[in-house]
Amino acid sequence: MAIIIKTAEQIDGIRKSSHLAAETLKHLEQFIKPGIKTLELDAIAEDFMRKNGAIPATKGYKGFKHASCISPNDVVCHGVPNDYQLLWGDIVNVDVTTILNGYFGDTCRMYAVGEISEYAQQLINTTKECLQIGLQQCFPGNHLNNIGYHISEHAHKHGYSVVYEFCGHGVGLKFHEDPEVSHIAEKNTGPILKPGMIFTIEPMINAGKARCKVDRKDGWTARTIDGKLSAQFEHTVLITESGHEALTDVYHDF
Ligand code: MF3
Ligand code: CO
Ligand code: CO
Repeated sequence: MAIIIKTAEQIDGIRKSSHLAAETLKHLEQFIKPGIKTLELDAIAEDFMRKNGAIPATKGYKGFKHASCISPNDVVCHGVPNDYQLLWGDIVNVDVTTILNGYFGDTCRMYAVGEISEYAQQLINTTKECLQIGLQQCFPGNHLNNIGYHISEHAHKHGYSVVYEFCGHGVGLKFHEDPEVSHIAEKNTGPILKPGMIFTIEPMINAGKARCKVDRKDGWTARTIDGKLSAQFEHTVLITESGHEALTDVYHDF
């Protein structure tokens, strides 16, 4: 399959959906407290999306039943919302994808529950930097894989590993489109970026080993193989004539 070059009208629709996805994550901030169940957070996210005219893309996606993925501590991604109550000192990722007027916007971020350790904070900081470094590689004429090349360089420099079993992806008209965006890749390889391409960058960075294992009971929740912490940030990114626009980067505060 080829990478879709979006029209001006499609870009406008995807931008609006992306903004709403970002606002959903902002809205959740006030509820991230010790004691709240991830299932309760999911309900709040779903309510917010629907009140703003959107549908959660994850609900019913390949059998996933919830409006968000909520991934605490050693959960790498695709955390199924459940009865787990957030604890003081946890780190947690919430990932939401909105469908607004048929257009998809996909974003995730980390939250700290109460006060977190220096160890956890540093993992979050480096992961955030990895996303920023990936964005810097988003300009027309560059090779797609320079995103993953620079992300992995940065993560490794800090002694972390990069998850390779899950990738970023084209997004906008569908949830998952071409291309696959690897967060660990070889320099100057992969397709050439062109204006109108839209894809996610969503590095998952682990404190220990890179490998993940999927929960056998719920079939989705992916954890680190060694039980160590994992962090992730995600933006939906448009390639423009002059560089890029991170469509879900509305608040510039994470
Ligand atoms: N939002 C996730 C991503 O960034 C995908 C979640 S798929 C689900 O690609 F089925 F687990 F919800
Ligand atoms: Co995504
Ligand atoms: Co996502």
